[in-house]
Amino acid sequence: MESMEEIVAREVGADGLAAMTAAFYRRVRTDDLLGPMYPEQDFEGAETRLREFLQFRFLGAEAYLEHRGHPRLRMRHMPFAIGEAESARWVSLMEAAMDECGIAGEARSVISPFFAQVADFLRNR
Ligand code: HEM
Repeated sequence: MESMEEIVAREVGADGLAAMTAAFYRRVRTDDLLGPMYPEQDFEGAETRLREFLQFRFLGAEAYLEHRGHPRLRMRHMPFAIGEAESARWVSLMEAAMDECGIAGEARSVISPFFAQVADFLRNR
């Protein structure tokens, strides 16, 4: 059976992940709940970090590790108060970004649960 990584590589690819990340951050910037949590001066940097992380996680691209080291996502999210509302909002903005980018079918059916699980795991309040 094909792995999640193989499905995403085949159906979405590096450019698809980049488009999805851009569409996500376009929404984050103006979001009343999440917008204020992100560095106002460095939205582009935040977009780069998430894009490179996703290209690392799904496609094995090395840039994230070179720039940031081991992801340690739980630790890196501790400074931000993430409760149920924040976690649910993150997921809904990402779902809207995936709709916009036409991420559907098998890819969508593996990426959506992945985001839901990580967003739940990152709750720290
Ligand atoms: C649960 C709700 C979430 C909230 C409120 C949240 C919020 C944030 C914030 C405020 C940052 C700092 C922005 C920056 O990089 O300067 C960040 C970074 C990051 N987030 Fe999230 N996040 C959430 C979920 C997720 C999920 C589900 C993933 C992955 C699937 C993720 C991956 C990342 C990555 C890779 C970074 C950059 C880490 C680094 O290298 O420093 N986040 N997040």
